[in-house]
Amino acid sequence: MNVYDSGRMADLLAPLGYEETGTPEMADMVILNTCHIREKAAEKVYSELGRLRPLKEERRAAGGDMLIAVAGCVAQAEGEEMARRAPVVDLIVGPQTYHRLPELVAQAHRSTGAVLDTDFPAESKFDHLPYTQRSEGPAAFLSVQEGCDKFCTFCVVPYTRGAEFSRPVGDVLIEARRLVDGGVRELTLLGQNVNAYHGPGPAGDAWTLAGLIRALAEIPSLDRIRYTTSHPRDMSDDLIAAHGEVEQLMPYLHLPVQSGSDAILKAMNRRHTADDYLRKIEKIRAARPDIALSCDFIVGFPGESDADFADTLKLINTVNFASAFSFKYSARPGTPASTAGSQVPEQVKSERLSALQQLLTAQQTAFNHASIGRTAPVLFEKAGRQPGQLIGRSPWLQAVFVDADDSLLGNITEVTLVKAQTNSLAGELTGDGKIRWSTVDKVA
Ligand code: 5AD
Ligand code: SF4
Repeated sequence: MNVYDSGRMADLLAPLGYEETGTPEMADMVILNTCHIREKAAEKVYSELGRLRPLKEERRAAGGDMLIAVAGCVAQAEGEEMARRAPVVDLIVGPQTYHRLPELVAQAHRSTGAVLDTDFPAESKFDHLPYTQRSEGPAAFLSVQEGCDKFCTFCVVPYTRGAEFSRPVGDVLIEARRLVDGGVRELTLLGQNVNAYHGPGPAGDAWTLAGLIRALAEIPSLDRIRYTTSHPRDMSDDLIAAHGEVEQLMPYLHLPVQSGSDAILKAMNRRHTADDYLRKIEKIRAARPDIALSCDFIVGFPGESDADFADTLKLINTVNFASAFSFKYSARPGTPASTAGSQVPEQVKSERLSALQQLLTAQQTAFNHASIGRTAPVLFEKAGRQPGQLIGRSPWLQAVFVDADDSLLGNITEVTLVKAQTNSLAGELTGDGKIRWSTVDKVA
């Protein structure tokens, strides 16, 4: 979502004469769009600011200036402290007020101290943003939902992004059509809790994510639809059914479970058990047998015992994931779990993370190996590292490298998958290399 937000910030600033530069050295303004989800991500901001300080000083010595802005969830959570700790920062703006950037930039030019805006305004920023005019390539993000009301006890999102909000269906459709008119073939619908989407439709009634996806599937030339991230409790029957019925909806689902232990899930306030999760997975696989499943895991949540961790490994073995993200629990200020007495020692967290990742990597490698010999439609997104090579994505979100002409960029063509590694596949063009597919071959 920060990638999407950064694009919108660039859209907002373009009428003021700003355009993107390749490096900070060339920039009149640098915006760090930040993440507060784990301590490591948040700390990175201060080291980046340390790198920018001499550049700003050089500019000033030469009679110019460089405006330094911090946006995103670290700005939201640490705004005032950041203004004190890092005087190099001119502007601090939270994720719900960046539509005010033009005005804030003007204020920052006039002011000597840092300008701060970390409100949660009553109006939605989306009502003030211009529609996206551009996309970096044929696969684009589109925010449809933001914030979260779930309050998992480890998570800062409900505090930094704020309460759950869904954009109106009409606005999403306009933005989607504009992106498709600009050459986009694949949209990933974004939200911290995207499958809780309940935006108002044209008649004012709340639509579900499944309804929104079905409406998007009517847009000609929008060949692929994905969405992320989902909560197991909001994985409703109509959304599961859409996976079996809407051919543009790609056979990939990121559905975080976090832990396989019921005691830990309860302490996390996830409001589902391991078995609830497994039953959802069964339903999803019944609707779309070839679906690639992805997940997030936290190891070392306060109170996690060896037996709890063993339950997580057991769940992973039962599901068999195509890919996954896993993290050591990171205590976040202000969240209930951060003050629990039973924090797990760092060493134990590290050992559990490496055991977990070994298992998940083996599953991901096996998933990719099982693709060898298949033909699949690949959407070519960008040039590969080697000359004459393009990189694209399979329906299952695997990165696929193919020797192919640049003219195929932005197109979907049929590829035979010939070689597999943990993070990518090598493929060869199979069709005439020019056919754009709008259907997916369902492989059981
Ligand atoms: N510590 C570690 N991982 C976290 N996540 C969220 N909060 C924390 C935390 N405090 C992980 C969860 C979530 C993903 C986006 O980040 O797994 O699904
Ligand atoms: Fe955070 Fe996701 Fe839980 Fe919401 S559902 S509190 S975003 S982990």
